[in-house]
Amino acid sequence: MRRWRDADREPFAALNADPEVMEHFPNRLTREESDALVDRIEAAFDEQGYGLWAVVAESGFIGFVGLQPVRFTAHFTPAVEIGWRLTRSAWGHGYASEAAVAARDFAFRKAGLDEIVSFTTYRNERSQAVMRRIGMRRDPADDFDHPRLPVDHPMRPHVLYRLTRESLTMGV
Ligand SMILES: CC(C)(COP(=O)(O)OP(=O)(O)OC[C@H]1O[C@@H](n2cnc3c(N)ncnc32)[C@H](O)[C@@H]1OP(=O)(O)O)[C@@H](O)C(=O)NCCC(=O)NCCS
Repeated sequence: MRRWRDADREPFAALNADPEVMEHFPNRLTREESDALVDRIEAAFDEQGYGLWAVVAESGFIGFVGLQPVRFTAHFTPAVEIGWRLTRSAWGHGYASEAAVAARDFAFRKAGLDEIVSFTTYRNERSQAVMRRIGMRRDPADDFDHPRLPVDHPMRPHVLYRLTRESLTMGV
């Protein structure tokens, strides 16, 4: 896991344009939108000292895993989100969970956070499995409608998972 390099932009744009990778997002990204996202990610590292790290496997750049402040208002905000997006060929190897453990530990040991959250659509089982593997838990009472999506949008209902530093330390 490392900061971003210019060479990451092309494979990142390819995964952001892949319908399977973006199945649970309202839209795929154009090259321009993908590059703008890299710019925002890098600016966030400069501002807060952490962010969505570029993840590199033996094959090279495979996507991102990391931390970012939630950029909308909901019942659980302000909060810092842990998130992931990997190229399709990198799924099924445990890379997302391995990197997410490192990001989780950074959140609690280095960034001084007391809690991290993660959220996705009900149907995004793979992402929810990563959340559970790193110790996050869902309380259905926390489920929410994503405020950035239109009221009748099928992806609007979201599940919320949480993990506190205390619960991780206590092993509960
Ligand atoms: C969400 C996402 C990162 C999950 O990827 P993933 O590969 O399923 O998750 P992991 O990297 O943790 O890998 C777990 C799988 O690897 C397998 N695996 C193989 N070797 C492994 C190892 N050494 N260690 C752990 N798991 C291993 C596990 O058995 C599991 O397989 P399964 O899904 O068949 O049960 C990926 O699907 C993705 O990028 N999706 C698109 C973007 C997205 O939706 N992001 C989330 C938005 S909220």
